[in-house]
Amino acid sequence: MSATLHFHGHATFSLVLASGTVVFDPFLTGNPAAVANVYDLAADLICVTHAHDDHVADVAALAGHTDATVVANFEIANHFAQQGVENIVGINPGGTYDAGFCRVKWTPAFHSSSFADGSYGGEANGILLSSEGLRLYFAGDTALFSDMRLIGGGNLDVAVLPIGDHFTMGIDDSLQAIRFLEPRLAVPMHYNTFPPIEQDAAAWARRVAAETDAQPVVLQPGESATL
Ligand code: NI
Ligand code: MN
Repeated sequence: MSATLHFHGHATFSLVLASGTVVFDPFLTGNPAAVANVYDLAADLICVTHAHDDHVADVAALAGHTDATVVANFEIANHFAQQGVENIVGINPGGTYDAGFCRVKWTPAFHSSSFADGSYGGEANGILLSSEGLRLYFAGDTALFSDMRLIGGGNLDVAVLPIGDHFTMGIDDSLQAIRFLEPRLAVPMHYNTFPPIEQDAAAWARRVAAETDAQPVVLQPGESATL
């Protein structure tokens, strides 16, 4: 198993696996935290958790220059198909898409999911990725919920969780999420990009280390970690 997780700021990550690269929630254009340009990113698979612009802003641009397959909920898939994105798969919670080099299972999330113009973007989701013995949960924007126990399943390597509060769970609830999910590594996201979601990630990491069995991995935009 060899995998590297790159943080691009806010909720945008690249997961580089031995035989392919997954990008989660591409938002670089207009992202105050981003240090990369969308045209710098490689992708074989693009996973989209929900329709808010801070998660989908660069879906079409990234899909266009990489020819990656986009996986999203049914409504987001239809939206981008109408915009001319060619390789797009619409699924919904409980469903799994097998990309060959990895499998992504759609899970529920507690959040809204409208497009920037207010149109309906389906339900918000999380993503459980498995590949080459690695299991990674990308929570998306969500509140805490107790079914995270089922998602973790006792053998989770990585949980990527929002900690920004205001629009998602904050630090206290993320600690309970980690206790439910029982990951080996916990990675924070969706904080400090905008004033309402400012958080002290170092304080979060100290609490994760003291109050859970997970190892905290705090990445600055542009940084990466070997999983
Ligand atoms: Ni959102
Ligand atoms: Mn968001």
